Order: sequence, then C-alpha cells, then structure tokens
Amino acid sequence: MNGIRTLLAAAVAAAATAGVIAADAPLTAQQQHGRKVFDIKCLPCHGPGMWGTNALARRMPLDKAELEKRTDLNAVMVKTLMRVGIGSMPPIRKTEVDDADADAIAAYLTRNSPR
Ligand code: HEC
Repeated sequence: MNGIRTLLAAAVAAAATAGVIAADAPLTAQQQHGRKVFDIKCLPCHGPGMWGTNALARRMPLDKAELEKRTDLNAVMVKTLMRVGIGSMPPIRKTEVDDADADAIAAYLTRNSPR
C-alpha cells in the first residue's frame, strides 16, 4: 500500500519538475487580495474568451493568453502597463486601482513567474 503511495508521490513530483503539472503554491495574503481585485477590475477583459484575452491570443497561444495562467510576467511590467495602458487597453488610474492594490495584483499575476 505504502509502496504505491510513494510511487504515486514520486510520479507527481517528477511531473511537476518536468513542468507537466503547474505546482501552484498556496497564495500569500497579498496574492489573495490581488486575486480579488483582479476579479473585479481585470477579469471582465482578461477572463477566458474576453476581449483582452482574445487580443493577447493574436501574439501568443490561446492557453497562455489569460493573464492568470502566465508564467512569464514581471511585477514592474504589469504595474507599468496598468498605468500607461497598452494597445487597446486603457490606462488604469490610481482612483480605480490604488498603488497597494496594483502591487497586490502584480504579486498575484507573477506568482508562477521566475523572480
Ligand atoms: C477594458 C478592457 C481591459 C481591462 C479592464 C484591463 N485590460 Fe489589460 N489588456 C486589455 C487588452 C485589449 C490588452 C491587449 C492590448 C494589445 O496588445 O493590443 C491588454 C493587455 C494587458 C497586459 C499586457 C500583457 C502582455 O503580455 O503584453 C497586461 C499586463 C494587462 N493587460 C494587465 C491588466 C490588469 C492588471 C488589469 C486590471 C487592473 C487589466 N489589464 C485590465 C484590456 C483590458
């Protein structure tokens, strides 16, 4: 019995190392807050099948176009693009998302990216 468990655990660990399974670490309090703000302010455009996702899918694979699934985002880049806007995305003002919330969103979106 234990042998099978150990084998399974080893297989899962190997798959995670190989990048087959996204090893999603538990969210920090800041990342959890970021996810909440993201759901309200960003998801309407960056959710599955939404405008922002479809726009990004023109220059990256569809399964990577959802910001929440990205593994290559950088916090400074996310915050800068939020404030300046990019392409057809309007700038997001501090009265809409303040700096603490912007930091939290960036922490959430970069949780699976190298630091
Ligand atoms: C009104 C719709 C809309 C909202 C709201 C919106 N975005 Fe966007 N966003 C877009 C579109 C459209 C693009 C693609 C722009 C382009 O390349 O033409 C984009 C692109 C981006 C990119 C660039 C990704 C890349 O790899 O180039 C980032 C980062 C981003 N958005 C972050 C956010 C965050 C964070 C929020 C919430 C605070 C947000 N966006 C809210 C529409 C939106």
